[in-house]
Amino acid sequence: MARPLVAEINLAALRHNYQLALSQSATSSALAVVKANAYGHGAVKVAKTLADLAPAFAVASIEEANELVTAGITQPITLLEGFFDASELPTIFANSYQPLIHNHWQVTELIHYLAEHPQAKASLSLWLKVDTGMHRLGFSPEQTADIYTQLKDLAAIKEITLTSHFACADDLTSQATNQQLKLLTDLQKQLACPISIANSPATLGWPASQTGYLRPGIMLYGASPFAPGHLLGDQLQTVMTLKSQLISVRDLPAGEPVGYGARFVTQKPTRIGVVACGYGDGYPRQAIDGTPALVKGIKCQLAGRVSMDMLTLDLTNCPNAQVGDEVILWGENLSVNEVASYCDTISYTLLTCLLPRVKRQYINDVSEE
Ligand SMILES: Cc1ncc(COP(=O)(O)O)c(C=O)c1O
Repeated sequence: MARPLVAEINLAALRHNYQLALSQSATSSALAVVKANAYGHGAVKVAKTLADLAPAFAVASIEEANELVTAGITQPITLLEGFFDASELPTIFANSYQPLIHNHWQVTELIHYLAEHPQAKASLSLWLKVDTGMHRLGFSPEQTADIYTQLKDLAAIKEITLTSHFACADDLTSQATNQQLKLLTDLQKQLACPISIANSPATLGWPASQTGYLRPGIMLYGASPFAPGHLLGDQLQTVMTLKSQLISVRDLPAGEPVGYGARFVTQKPTRIGVVACGYGDGYPRQAIDGTPALVKGIKCQLAGRVSMDMLTLDLTNCPNAQVGDEVILWGENLSVNEVASYCDTISYTLLTCLLPRVKRQYINDVSEE
């Protein structure tokens, strides 16, 4: 039998979540963000599963876009960091990728490239990033109209979408989101062009921002950006369930250490279960004692440091657990958000850090393969 650790990925839930995003779009337009291997879920499978629903996809690099194209994806693909070097421009033009332009050096390189390649297809759609307050990428609102005009004047440029990214949309009390939105929509009125700003928290929680092309990422994968109790966040369905099995069970008397560094010491006679899953799979080593996992559906607690290939659970809540019993590390009935909260991190990192050696097992597959 193979190592029992698998990430079961429910593709029907993925489609449900995408449709929830789409239902929030005033213009029925939502790019599916599938960068970082679709947040660990497998970019090709995710894109194929959404291919009949999503008008476009967004990734972080040409390599990620090429992977989709090679697999037969024909939708437009936005490169969310644009190009990193002018040598990527021929591939961008050849595939009609939509690069995001966020810096003066990219404008210079693009103009230079087009001057040297006047035969370049007159069909490049690109995204122009405005720094509306996050101060990560983009031109200031004051610079944007000028850059927009320079780009629009190039014969090869077909369409320019103004875009920006929210810094605090997961905080429904923050003032920053409306300020960022106003800066972008003011520019849109001035330049009369399409826009895109809403990520998952905005799609679910900021109706005013549900304009232009939505860019949902994490919500597609079933992790709500909000605490339980949020109307739409609670409608998301779990996509990934990381599951394994107990490979050893032992009874220890009180006062015995468990695992590296003897971080956990039994306070009473305790049954300890060893699970085939560790940081070598992407399970976070910073998980503290008490981090939940489900054994036969019953919540048990991490006891001791996570090792490379294994972790140890206190089976007090599930005294009849045996070798071979199923353990859910996160997923159905144990949200990845809850696990992340014990690991000083967020769902995004748990999902994207799941390593290739964890087999992805797809269920409810509607794609052709
Ligand atoms: C530019 C951009 N747009 C959209 C997204 C999707 O964000 P989320 O996963 O919060 O929906 C990201 C994610 O990092 C991003 O960087």
